[in-house]
Amino acid sequence: MSTTEKPYWEESYKRPGKLDTFGDGKPSKAVADTVVKIKLPAKAMDFGCGEGRNALYLAKLSFETSAVDISEAGIQKLKIMAKESNLNIDARVDDMRAYKFDKYFDLIVCTGCLHLIKREEWQKVLLDLKKYTSRGGFHVVGIFTDKVPEPEDQKGLMVGLFKEGELFTYYQDWEIIESKSSVFEDEHPGGIRHKHAANSITARKP
Ligand SMILES: C[S@@+](CC[C@H](N)C(=O)[O-])C[C@H]1O[C@@H](n2cnc3c(N)ncnc32)[C@H](O)[C@@H]1O
Repeated sequence: MSTTEKPYWEESYKRPGKLDTFGDGKPSKAVADTVVKIKLPAKAMDFGCGEGRNALYLAKLSFETSAVDISEAGIQKLKIMAKESNLNIDARVDDMRAYKFDKYFDLIVCTGCLHLIKREEWQKVLLDLKKYTSRGGFHVVGIFTDKVPEPEDQKGLMVGLFKEGELFTYYQDWEIIESKSSVFEDEHPGGIRHKHAANSITARKP
């Protein structure tokens, strides 16, 4: 993939009304498992939200929800879907590498994004996400690792693949609720199929 080419999800973000780019539009299971542990009122951030499957789910559950993504198409689609469902989401186009947190969150979700920025960049972002989490607050983070090489159709996109197991080392000072390693094949709109190695974690700030 050249630097001018847009990733495949941009096309899908432009299709209005259909929330199916990732996870069939359903929230991440780890997010659904975590919300039951959080007492409302609570603030949630979907960082690198894409078209916002997790943000929409959280807002429906009455979390005060913020969402950030670098994709204008993704944020635009999220805003439209939130409006249609009468949900209030603070959705912003921004670069997670430059994002300035102005409040603390009880839940931060960051799924499938951090390996899309360089190692030295995600290291800083992860520390910031940890910092701007309230005491007793949760993270649900999922990334891809180098256990499986970057798929051919995504060459040049995954500039910051984690080393296998590395994500978990960032949470040694938090309570680990769940951590998982997997290798799986997935399919996206347009018939794109590829293999990924993933690490995911749900952790709680002491
Ligand atoms: C694989 S998608 C995952 C979307 C969403 N988290 C989900 O699980 O459905 C990765 C998202 O990261 C976003 N992204 C990539 N680089 C980014 C950056 N520097 N700042 C903010 N978002 C970024 C992309 O625009 C894309 O929407």
